[in-house]
Amino acid sequence: MSAAIDIKQYSYHYANGVEALCDIDLTIKHGQKVALIGPNGAGKSTLLLAMNMFIEGSGQIFVDGLELNRCNIHSIRKVMGFVVQDPEEQLFMPTVFDDVAFGPLNLELDQEEIIRRVKDTLKRVGLEGMEDRAPYHLSAGQKRAAAIATVLSMKPKIIIMDEPDTSLDPRSRNRLIELLSGLSQTLIIATCNMDFAARLCDHVILVDQGRVVVQGAAEKILSDGELMDKHGLEVPFRSRYSAGNRPIRPSLP
Ligand SMILES: Nc1ncnc2c1ncn2[C@@H]1O[C@H](COP(=O)(O)OP(=O)(O)OP(=O)(O)O)[C@@H](O)[C@H]1O
Ligand SMILES: [Mg+2]
Repeated sequence: MSAAIDIKQYSYHYANGVEALCDIDLTIKHGQKVALIGPNGAGKSTLLLAMNMFIEGSGQIFVDGLELNRCNIHSIRKVMGFVVQDPEEQLFMPTVFDDVAFGPLNLELDQEEIIRRVKDTLKRVGLEGMEDRAPYHLSAGQKRAAAIATVLSMKPKIIIMDEPDTSLDPRSRNRLIELLSGLSQTLIIATCNMDFAARLCDHVILVDQGRVVVQGAAEKILSDGELMDKHGLEVPFRSRYSAGNRPIRPSLP
C-alpha cells in the first residue's frame, strides 16, 4: 500500500533567499497521528504548505500514491484537508454554515448530507447553533474551531493542521484532542505545544533550520530532555503516556 505522504529530497527557498526546507526525506503511513515539531522559524508551516502545493520547491512529494503536481492537485485536495496557521485565511464566506459547507459542496454531496455534516461537525468542535454567525465576528478561539470544522466536514483521508491548538482554552483544547484522537484518518499536526503533541500523536517529526532532525515514536523523542532542549523545545508536562496525567517532566524545585 502507498504511504499517506512520501517526500523525497525536497528543498525550498523563499524569494528572499531564505532556505526554509533542505533535503527533506520522510514517509508518513496511513493512520499515523504525526506531530511536526520544531522551534519558531524551523520550517514547519513551510513544509505543510509544500505538502499542499501552496509553494513549489525541488524534489518530489507523493500524497496517497499520487505525485503532487498540477495535474493531480485537484484529486489530491479531495483526499487531503489543510487547516492553515491563520484561521482568517480559512474563513471567507458570509456565515459559519457556508464556510463549513463549502468543502462538502465541492464534493458534490447531496443537500441533506451537507446539512447533516455541517451541524454534526459544528457540534463536535463546540460551535453548535452558530451556523448563522459571521465568521469575522467570532472570537479567536471560535474562529480556530470554525476553521478546523471546514476541513473535518469533508472527512478527508489525510488531515493536515498548522498549530490547531492556538487560542483554544483548556476545555476546547481537550475537546479537540478527544475529537482528533477518535479519528481513524492520518493526522499531521504542526505544533509548538509539546503537551498537545504528547497527548495526541504517536509519531513525531522534529525539524529545525529547515531539516528533519529526527523522526520516530512520540514517547521516545518527546521524553528526550537533551534533544528537546537543544532545539528550543521542552519535554511535555502532561502526556497520555504518564498515568493519571502525572508530569513526565520532573517538577521544578
Ligand atoms: N513568506 C516568506 N518569505 C520569506 N521567508 C519566509 C516566509 N515565510 C517564512 N519564511 C522563513 O522561512 C523559515 C521557516 O518559516 P516557517 O513559517 O515555515 O517556520 P515555522 O516552523 O512554521 O515557525 P512558527 O513556529 O513560528 O510558525 C523562517 O526562517 C521564516 O523566517
Ligand atoms: Mg508556523
